[in-house]
Amino acid sequence: MSEQMGAAVIGLGMMGERHARIWRELHMTRLVSVHDIVSERTEEVSRLLGCDAAESLEEAIEAEDVQIVSVCTSDEAHREACVTAAEAGKHVLVEKPLATTLEDCDAIIEACRRNDVKLMTGHVCRFDPRYVKCRDAVMEGDLGEIVQVFARRNNILPSGLRIGPRTSVAFFLGVHDIDLIQWVTGRQITRVHSESTSRVLKDIPADDTIMTVFRLEGGGVGALETCWVIPEGAPNSLDARLEIVGSSGRVAAIVGCEGFEQQSEERALRPDIIYWTEMHDGAQGGLRRQLEHFAECVIEDRDPVVSSQHARSAVEVAAAIHRSLESGQPVEIETSSVRGPS
Ligand SMILES: NC(=O)c1ccc[n+]([C@@H]2O[C@H](COP(=O)([O-])OP(=O)(O)OC[C@H]3O[C@@H](n4cnc5c(N)ncnc54)[C@H](O)[C@@H]3O)[C@@H](O)[C@H]2O)c1
Repeated sequence: MSEQMGAAVIGLGMMGERHARIWRELHMTRLVSVHDIVSERTEEVSRLLGCDAAESLEEAIEAEDVQIVSVCTSDEAHREACVTAAEAGKHVLVEKPLATTLEDCDAIIEACRRNDVKLMTGHVCRFDPRYVKCRDAVMEGDLGEIVQVFARRNNILPSGLRIGPRTSVAFFLGVHDIDLIQWVTGRQITRVHSESTSRVLKDIPADDTIMTVFRLEGGGVGALETCWVIPEGAPNSLDARLEIVGSSGRVAAIVGCEGFEQQSEERALRPDIIYWTEMHDGAQGGLRRQLEHFAECVIEDRDPVVSSQHARSAVEVAAAIHRSLESGQPVEIETSSVRGPS
């Protein structure tokens, strides 16, 4: 293994460019190659960050010294890049959700297992100390028995307009909270009953919002609110919350007001400074920590904090939410062995 591990990034939208920047900045990695199906975008990012502009997925992955591949294509297009990278013996960091079907999840997990490479899904909230503190409290037994859970993830309208044509709000936003609910409580969601409406995004067509009531293994109940049509005038682009009430305590992670505000004559802003922010000429925050963690897991041969089974389980619940929307009925989800590493 060379001193710095080489990294390739596939899919160069908002997230792919961020992954590429971080691989270039970390001491233990270097950015070797990038690829997007839009060749102008490949050229643009390669010029900006000084790495190979690969004309194909294979060329990016097989470039000299590449050991880690970030897959940042849109939600429904993760499988091909993940499986190709795994078959070439590269470790795979794929953006959330792992995929949008269980069949794709299983193909990715199986390819990584067969080729003995690490696989981690970028559930970046696992690297937000507010959610980690919630999990610590639950695991310490501070809350007693879980009584109720509430999770919210509301984004401003440009998010729905940009992503709505390609995926659903349950797969794009909901999986974050589904993963958090299951990870923080250590319990699987076993039943969902969802309702949605489409007014703002009816021409796309896409759901504006999906509201889900759910039951947790062991008896707790909860509600999940997931929306991407909040008017753009809102000061924060993300309004998120996780609140867990137990028989002897309560925890809450409150996201969206991070203690920094900026105001012009037109608009007040509360930007994200927790997941992604530039500081002293480098990227900081949860996303950087996530990539650093994955590189450490490869170097030290450790299991990543997001297990494949957890990532698959989040997809399973999101798919069940869609089945509930179609049938108008509650949908049961079989419990399985989704424990994974803590
Ligand atoms: N962790 C987070 O908080 C977070 C935030 C936003 C997006 N995401 C996830 O990151 C992924 C990318 O999202 P984004 O917002 O960057 O999307 P985006 O639309 O900005 O970028 C996707 C890019 O992938 C390219 N692409 C699509 N199919 C491809 C293929 N087969 N081969 C190569 N390139 C391909 C597109 O041309 C585009 O440039 C999604 O899975 C999304 O859910 C995660």
